[in-house]
Order: sequence, then structure tokens, then C-alpha cells
Amino acid sequence: MSDFELETSTQEPPFDTAMKVIYQWNYDPEVEELRRLYVKAAEAQWVSERDLDWDRDIDMHLFETTPLGLGLPVQETSYWRGQTEERRLELTRKTAAFRLSNFLHGEQGALMVASQLVNAVPHTDAKFYAATQTMDEARHVEVFAQYIEKLDEIQPIAAPLKKVLDDTLQTGDWLKKLVGMQIVVEGLALFSFREMRSLTEEPLLKDLLTYVARDESRHHAYGVQYLERCVPELGKEQREELEDFALEAARTLIDARRSTTLFASMLEVWSNAGLDATALLESAAKEIPDLLSKQNKKRRLGPVQGFVIPTLRRCGLLSERVAEHYREMLAANLSTGVVGEDLEEFLSRIPDLPEDTAAWVLSELQEDERELPVSRGGAQPAV
Ligand SMILES: [Fe+2]
Ligand SMILES: [Fe+2]
Repeated sequence: MSDFELETSTQEPPFDTAMKVIYQWNYDPEVEELRRLYVKAAEAQWVSERDLDWDRDIDMHLFETTPLGLGLPVQETSYWRGQTEERRLELTRKTAAFRLSNFLHGEQGALMVASQLVNAVPHTDAKFYAATQTMDEARHVEVFAQYIEKLDEIQPIAAPLKKVLDDTLQTGDWLKKLVGMQIVVEGLALFSFREMRSLTEEPLLKDLLTYVARDESRHHAYGVQYLERCVPELGKEQREELEDFALEAARTLIDARRSTTLFASMLEVWSNAGLDATALLESAAKEIPDLLSKQNKKRRLGPVQGFVIPTLRRCGLLSERVAEHYREMLAANLSTGVVGEDLEEFLSRIPDLPEDTAAWVLSELQEDERELPVSRGGAQPAV
């Protein structure tokens, strides 16, 4: 008897989405830049089994260089360093598996949103591009799943990420799908992939992230180039709705004042791994201000301020109204030294997007980019 089943215990119950489908009868190029991006994507296809060396074992000592992405140097606290080497490697493995699992589940969300975009966007070039992105995302799901299984085991999705993916899948507005996925989720992912790719010395992870990040830079470019065309055509109300959708997604993912945060999910993973999270946080609260004091002199911007907000501005989705909301959120989560004292200072600190995002995402981090933005509580992830 076959063990194939239509319903498996790993499936979620199905839920309804409000997607609208649009046929487009004009097949000629209309948005040239998207047609070019589609050709580029077709040329850049790669194959996991052929292009990555899966036979190589993961060397945990090299793997320890992989940033855990907590926005604070927990690995440098006396509590973490006081663990035996074996235990430290195990905690690194569990923490990284949590982070990579959320990349993986985010990739599944991206796979489903990209396939929805094929149906929902009104221009042929945009449908073509979304089709190549769908293929890319399938490959990303494949490689992250395979890598995590080699490292440890796949962990469940964190609640805030699930919420943003659900909202993006469920909205009937294709522009909101573009903003939620291409700008916010992929913007944050691109920033993290770049950091992880640059710092990890584990060769398989580095190679995998090189391929994935190259694809992601195109996905981000798709969102930017398409929205740049669309946003000027929108009325005030529709534009504000898009701005609010992006803000809400960012708040869900990173605002530490919300009840469920990625950091809270992380603490749960540690507790399950037998770590005394209270002792770690106490050690972090005491030592991190000192650990960061050198870095205070040269603060760098986090992923929201340094990448997502510049992207929104470029797309015409950063009015002063919504910028003030971002400033307020970031000020509550970070020290005002990073955010700026008022809206004018905040806006003046927003950098331009890199000219060539593909080159940027594959460039090595500069020395001052290795430093962390300083969070208010000392033991909260930086945003
Ligand atoms: Fe992806
Ligand atoms: Fe993507």
C-alpha cells in the first residue's frame, strides 16, 4: 500500500484569500524594465543539486561565525561564554536553526504570494516576472529546508512572521501584496542575507546565500520598479492605505512593544534547549551596555531604517505622516541617538538605496557595519 495521503499532519487547515484574477490581452512589452528583469531572471536560474556541494559536512567551529541575528551580541556575554564548548555549539546550532527556519517559512510565504501575483497583477511583464520569482522561491524553500535538516531540525514558524504572511496572502489588493512581500519581508530578508553571507565562514551556507541573495535582489528590484510606476497613479486614500499596510507589517515583525515578537519566540527556543533565559538576559542587561559602548560612537542603522524605509521612500510611500509613525516606533525600540530627535533629523538620516542592489547584497560588510544599533532595553533585538 502506498503511504501517500491527501491530508497530512503537517498541513494547516486551508483558509480563504480575497485575491482577484486579471486577464491581460496585450502581450507586448509595456513596462520595459520589468521585461528586462524577467529575461535576467531566466538567465540566472540555478540548480541546487548541481551548483551546491551538499556532500560537504557542516563544520560547527566554522559555523559559529554565523551571526545569530539577535541584534545584540549575546555570544559575547559572560553567560554564553561560560558555557562549555559543546553546549555553546549546541546553542548556536539551535539558535541558527530557529533563524533559518523562519527564513524557510518566509520563503514558502514568498512562493505562494509570488504565484498569486501571476494572477493578480494587471500587466503582462509583471505576470512574467512573478512567474520567474515563483520558480526562484521554490528553489529557496528547497535549499533552506535541505540545509536546516543537515544542521539540525526545522522549527515552527514564529507568530509575527505568520501574521504578516497571512495578511499578505489574504488581501485582495495586489499592490498590498507587492508592498508586504517585495518591500517589507524581502527588504528585511535581503538585509539579513547580506549580513549572514558576509560573516559566515561555513562554506555551504555562504554559497547557498550567495545564490539566494542574488535572486532576492531581483525580487526587491521588481517591487521597487513596479511600484515606482504605479504609486504616482494612485489617489491619496489608496496611497495611504498602502503606506499603512507596510507600517503594520513592519510593526508586527519588529516592534518589541507588541506581545509576540521574534525575540520572544527565540527565548522560547532557548528555554526548550535547556538554557536559563533569565540568567542570560540578566548577564546581557549588565554587560551589553559596556560591550556596545565602543560601538556607540559609530552607530549604524538597522534593517528598517537602513533599508526598508529608503525603499519605501524610493517608491513614493513615505509621506511625513507615516515617517513620523516609523520614527516613533524606532525611538521606542532604539535609543534616540540612532533615530534622531525629531522628524527632520530622522528624515535627514535616511540613506539612499544602493545604486546596484545586486552588487550591494553580495558585497562584504564594512568594518563599521559589523557594529550593532543600540537597543533601549539592552536585551532586545535591534530594529
Ligand atoms: Fe526567496
Ligand atoms: Fe524573494
